[in-house]
Amino acid sequence: KKDILGLETMSSPEINLILDTAKEMKNIIDRDIKKAPTLRGKSIINLFFENSTRTRTSFELAGKYLGADVVNISASSSSVAKGESLRDTLLTVEAMGVDIIVMRHEAEGSAQYAANVVKPVLINAGDGAHEHPSQGLLDMFTIKQYKRKIDGLKVAIVGDILHSRVARSNIWGLMKMGAEVHVAGPQTLLPRDIEQVGVKVHNRIEEALDQADVINVLRIQRERQKKGLFPSAREYARIFGVNAKRLALAKPDALLLHPGPMNRGLEIAPDIAYSEQSAIQEQVKNGLAVRMALLFLVLMGGIQIEAAN
Ligand code: CP
Repeated sequence: KKDILGLETMSSPEINLILDTAKEMKNIIDRDIKKAPTLRGKSIINLFFENSTRTRTSFELAGKYLGADVVNISASSSSVAKGESLRDTLLTVEAMGVDIIVMRHEAEGSAQYAANVVKPVLINAGDGAHEHPSQGLLDMFTIKQYKRKIDGLKVAIVGDILHSRVARSNIWGLMKMGAEVHVAGPQTLLPRDIEQVGVKVHNRIEEALDQADVINVLRIQRERQKKGLFPSAREYARIFGVNAKRLALAKPDALLLHPGPMNRGLEIAPDIAYSEQSAIQEQVKNGLAVRMALLFLVLMGGIQIEAAN
């Protein structure tokens, strides 16, 4: 079965196929076709153990636009709140005969675990600080839309790298597609082994932003940070916050990305969040197209995306 667990295990032809299919899907969205019959008779469950606005909603709309039935389960309103385990929840959902489970969970590796436990296709919508493949794909789709290529671009990923599944999926995907990836953040928010991955690491954000083609600003993930680890918000904004002055260090046509939700005034200055260089709203729109492509490809064919099981 064709699970989508992460970009570390995805090849560049597979990424290209998804990005090309997403382009077709974006044409459908732009033509305002909101009820294609492509996935009629298929059912999708969004199983979210962590909060979400963009990912959950866009997977729901993606399924509905392609004609599938979509049901949402959030941990707080499900029997998980009564103590039901992840395994039992997955088996319960499987017994209802769904075709795809889209799952977000706070534990790294939970997506692989779930894919091993149940037969429906598993799409990882974020497993702890590990991977968020659909976000990595939509970020690459957005870069390609504005820059016409990914190969050879300098992409700066800045902020809370340590806790960011968005950073990890971007790094794996962008490196496979030939980008030169630079990361910057406070020492306390950089993984210890980050240099071994093949990215260029900077302690000063200015060095990462210098002549960058793309800047991806990460959310500061207060909910995942241990007490005392984090520089104060004021210190962070002063030393690492992306503002107009720092943005000017990048190329004049540099693209500004943020996966959302934003902490305005912390990792990103309010005046640049929706500036001319920002593609943040376009990222949200592209997220819908990429998720339509993923649902289509895992159910209707295309090359083997993940042959784990
Ligand atoms: N970028 C992202 O995953 O946003 P949500 O948490 O709102 O889904």
